[in-house]
Order: sequence, then C-alpha cells, then structure tokens
Amino acid sequence: MADLRAFENTLIYGCDYNPEQWPESVWQEDMALMKRAGVNLVSIAIFGWARLEPEEGVYEFAWLDRIMDMLHQHGIKANLATATASPPAWFALKYPESLPVDKNGVRLGVGSRQQYSPASPIYREKASQLVRQLALRYKNHSALAMWHINNEYGCHIFESFSEETVCAFRNWLHHKYATLDALNEAWGTAFWSQTYYEWAEIQAPAAMPTFYNPSQYLDWRRFSSDMLQECMQMEVDLLREITPEVPVTTNYIGINKHLDQWKMSEIEDVVSIDIYPDPASPSAAIECAAQGDVARSLKQNQPWILMEQAPNQVQWRTLNHTKRPGQMRLWSYQLLARGARGIMYFQWRQSKAGAEKYHSGMVPHDGTDSRTWREIETLGNELKRLPDFCNDPVKAEVAIVLDWNSWWGLEQGSHPHADLNLMELVAQFYAPLHQQNITVQFVRPSDDLSKYRLVCIPNLYLVKEEDARNIETYVQNGGRVVMSYFSGIVNEHDHVYLGGYPAPFRKMLGLKVEEWLALSKEEKRPLENGWSAEQWIDVIRLEGAQAVTSHTADYYAGLPAITTHAFGAGRADYLGVKLPVEQMGLYLKTVLDELQIQPALQVPAGIEVVSRETTVFVLNHHPQTMTIDLPEHKKDLLSGKDVAGQVELPAYGVLILQ
Ligand code: GLA
Repeated sequence: MADLRAFENTLIYGCDYNPEQWPESVWQEDMALMKRAGVNLVSIAIFGWARLEPEEGVYEFAWLDRIMDMLHQHGIKANLATATASPPAWFALKYPESLPVDKNGVRLGVGSRQQYSPASPIYREKASQLVRQLALRYKNHSALAMWHINNEYGCHIFESFSEETVCAFRNWLHHKYATLDALNEAWGTAFWSQTYYEWAEIQAPAAMPTFYNPSQYLDWRRFSSDMLQECMQMEVDLLREITPEVPVTTNYIGINKHLDQWKMSEIEDVVSIDIYPDPASPSAAIECAAQGDVARSLKQNQPWILMEQAPNQVQWRTLNHTKRPGQMRLWSYQLLARGARGIMYFQWRQSKAGAEKYHSGMVPHDGTDSRTWREIETLGNELKRLPDFCNDPVKAEVAIVLDWNSWWGLEQGSHPHADLNLMELVAQFYAPLHQQNITVQFVRPSDDLSKYRLVCIPNLYLVKEEDARNIETYVQNGGRVVMSYFSGIVNEHDHVYLGGYPAPFRKMLGLKVEEWLALSKEEKRPLENGWSAEQWIDVIRLEGAQAVTSHTADYYAGLPAITTHAFGAGRADYLGVKLPVEQMGLYLKTVLDELQIQPALQVPAGIEVVSRETTVFVLNHHPQTMTIDLPEHKKDLLSGKDVAGQVELPAYGVLILQ
C-alpha cells in the first residue's frame, strides 16, 4: 500500500484550498501566507469539476497546472482532489437521470452540490474520465503527495430513489440472493402479503403507507453504502493503475451512519475525517475524542488525518458559536493525541461569496489582522518545532464494539422503543470512560478481541452467529465483556433469534430476558442503592449469572437490572437497563478497578489525559487555569521544559509529556 512518505518526519498542517474562487493576483499572497503559517499540505480542486471540464470532454488544466507549480515552488504538497464531488450544471442538465431522487420521488436540482445518484452509470462514467485525465496529467508532478477522493461521501446524498438506482438495487439483490425464493425467505415476505414473483416487482423502500419491510430496509442501507463505496473503488482502481505510489484517501464526515466506514477504510491507504465540534455543546470534547478514536481504529491504529476542522465558526448550524481563544489549538492537540498525523482546516481563505461565506477561514475576511489568523499562524509554527510522535502508538486497553449493520438494524421503526439511538448508547459507555481518561479503541464484532482487557458492547441488536461466537470465545478465554440491553436479538436478515432473548449470548451471560419495558424520556424506575433505570427495562431471569443490582418496584421488583456471570476463564456483565450517565460512570469504575485499568495520570475532572507508548498528552478543557500533580519528572515537548509536582495548566492549555 502507498503511504505518506512525503511526511515521514513531519506533522501535516494544511487546509482545503479553493483558489478557483479568487483572482490569480491573490495566489501569490496565498503562497506567502501559507509559508508564514507553516502550511505543508493543501487539498485542492475539491469542487473544481466545472472549472476543469467547462464542456463535456473539454478539459482545462492550465489554472491547476499553475497552482500545482506554485505549490511546488513553495515547498507545499498537494492533496489533489479528484473533483468528482460536485458535477457541473451542464452535466446534470444533459443527463438528468443522474440527479438524485428523494423518498417522495422529487428529483433534486442543480445549484447546490453533490447532485448525483451514486449508482448513476453516466455519473460514474464521466467521473472516471475526469479522474483518468487528472491522474495522467499530474502523475509525475512533484507537488502531488496524495489523492483526495471525492468529498464526504454520503454527506448530503446517501441514498437515491431514481429509476436507475432501483435497477441497480435489483441487480445487487440478484447478486446477493441468486433466487427470488432466497430473497423472499431472507426478507420474510410471507408477512403482509409481500411475496415477490418477479425481480422487477422489487422496489426501494421509498414513501409507503406504513412500516416498510425491515429486512428490505437493511439491504437498502447496505446497498446504498455499497454504491458510495463502488464510486470510491472505481476512483481508487484508476489511481492505483496510474499512480501506484501515491496514497489515496477520502474524507469522512465524522462518524457517518450511512456509510460502512469499516468496509470503506479497507480500500483507502490513509483514513481522514472531518470533525466539527459545536463550541457551545457541553459534550464537544467527548464527541471530538470519540471521532478521533474511531478514525484511529478504522485502520487499526495507522496514523490518520484530521482533514477538516473549522478555524473558528461554522455557518451551517442554527446558532454558530465562535471557538473561544485557545479552543481550536486545544482540540487540534486532542486529535493529535489520539493518533492524527496532521491537522487540516476547511478552508484556507474565507469565501466572499456562496453559501459558506460566513464559515471561518484560516485567512478571514479581514485578513491577517485577526485573532483567527494569529491562532492559526501560532499553531502552525508550534507544530513545526515539535518532534514527530506519530509512530508512538496510542495505548488502549478498552474496546467498544461498533457495527454499521447493527446500527442500521437498531434504528428502525416498529421496535419496542422508537428512540434507541446508537450514538447515544455508545456515548453511555464512551462518555464515562472519557471522563475517567480511559482511552478506547473501536472494534468490529468479528475482530480479534484478545488484545483488550475490557470489551464494551452497546446495544449490538443485530449480530451474526459467528460474531456472537467470536465474542463468546473472547470471554471463554478470559476476556471481560459489558453488554447492554437489546443486544443479540436478530440475525443479519433482521430475523429474531428464537429460544429466549438474547439467544446467541444467553449461555455467556447466564440469563434470559423474558420481556422488556419501554420507558418515556421522563420516566425513571428505582433500583437498589438509590440508582435508577431509564429508557428501557429488561425483565431478567437468572440462569447462572448473579445480580449486581436489582429493581425495587413494580411486578419485577427483586429481579436483577445488572448482572455478572463468570464464564470460562472470563466474565460477562449485562446491563438490562439504561443508567443515568453518572451512575454508568460509577458502575464502569468498579469494573475498571477490578481489572486494574487505570489512567496514566490522576487529574481533576475536565482535564483529559491520553497516553501513547512514550508520551502522555494532558489537555485542559477548562476556560481557567488548573493545577495538576505530576508525580514524576517529565519533559514537556511543547515548552521544552522539565516539569514535576504542582504544575499549572493555563485555560485550554496542553502539555505533551515525555
Ligand atoms: C464539509 C465539507 C466542506 C465544507 C465544510 C464546512 O465538511 O467537506 O466542503 O462544506 O463542511 O464546514
């Protein structure tokens, strides 16, 4: 696989650069300012298709040649985009069949971006011609360091109900099931008279009178994710043929439900992700950390790139809060701590026109005489002085299972509780672990789990039989699992595992769930020791497990809410309720203590600690100075000074201890 050779001993610092929005007279100044800020990599031509191919088959590369040459002259590398993210107006008008169609049959128009159906054959054909032209033209250009494929696949258009897409869905199903009998069986179409007798009868789950067939919907999610992946694969194949040495990446929009990021990451060389915390959100730091951990996990700890963050404010929320002085730097280090090889921004120069003119840029409307610029310039120069810590692995003893198929299965309608949201349920585990400074690795249910001392399994609603066995074997061999309710309920076709819930995990958990209760947002039900249950209650019968805490009211009083079961050489815990997050923290703390899993440093709340093999990052998320106690002498890579004892960390301050 190609790698980021150009950045072997350097941290990446850069941005989306859209010079096509500016007269060429500005480009020289851009180069000079990029040098001042320490920019060493720019993503260019992401939205360049209309400029690169003003009419069908007529390519204009002269402007891009000039920019590529200028970048090279200034020692800045190009993360050259394949420009396929936003087809030109002429394309959409000439090939209207390529336009996405929404659930209600409305064809979406031009004048925005991402206006194509991922399954559209003509989109794929024209996109591949453009990619080939670009690759041939720039394959030997010294500025080329990486290919930026498309942009945020599935960010706006993650499914389309166009005729062509429905045809592609049928082909995909044909390939998967071979016979209609197999499809009818997998989709359980005996229900509600849904049996199909011809492939042509099969439709996409668009607007319907009431609940759609859940097995069909699952396949639709898989198919829609696969269509995006096929677009990516088509570009990857072309680029690998023409420039086998140049790494390829695509930037994810955070953790995207609509795209199986485990599968997608297998076909790229480097993972990159865009992270936009809401500065007003009390959980901003946790969300940032979780996204960083997912990014690192997708390619099993390989360094990844923060491809976009906002230099300051965004423009796409209802209220767009500014980052407070120091916050942008803090969040940058937070992601470097979690394995990022570099920090990039959207975008270089704040646009003066278009839908993003109020989105901050590294060079704001008022130029360099601004707080944003000063923070950008200072950080860039600080990173230049730092030693490269990218090959120092991030340490994680605790894993959280994340699976896209289960996510799609869980968040369907016609379930006992309509408000089960996987990311909220993951946060039930992630947030308290983050607060206790325990670094998490995300894993698939099929992964080798033996490296982890603790594996948390939030609501793994859908599980394949062999994945359930993988988890069971991990426990059997001495692992520790904490699993929460509504896990192990259905197989990959969304068919319930019969024989008592959760059938595939009953032996491991030593219990049976007899029934469940759905609670409203306001409801809480009492447990022992003043604890309480929210959202969901499993009525549990023990079959070898022990109760950790039990219900104290209603007809299930005395029955367990949380259980633990010694199984083989390991132990499996089960949460048959949702705990308020503080209680979840206390509960997880007892498990961590039992396993003697500890953070690298004991620090006050709101100070984040991330440890790697030889460095420890300490990040102050408070808007005021905090004092921490460092038991041993360490060198702070940022200040170059030795620190020990009572150390003051300024508001949003950072230490990198070695
Ligand atoms: C996304 C896109 C960018 C830009 C930013 C704005 O991440 O990839 O093109 O629109 O959002 O925040």
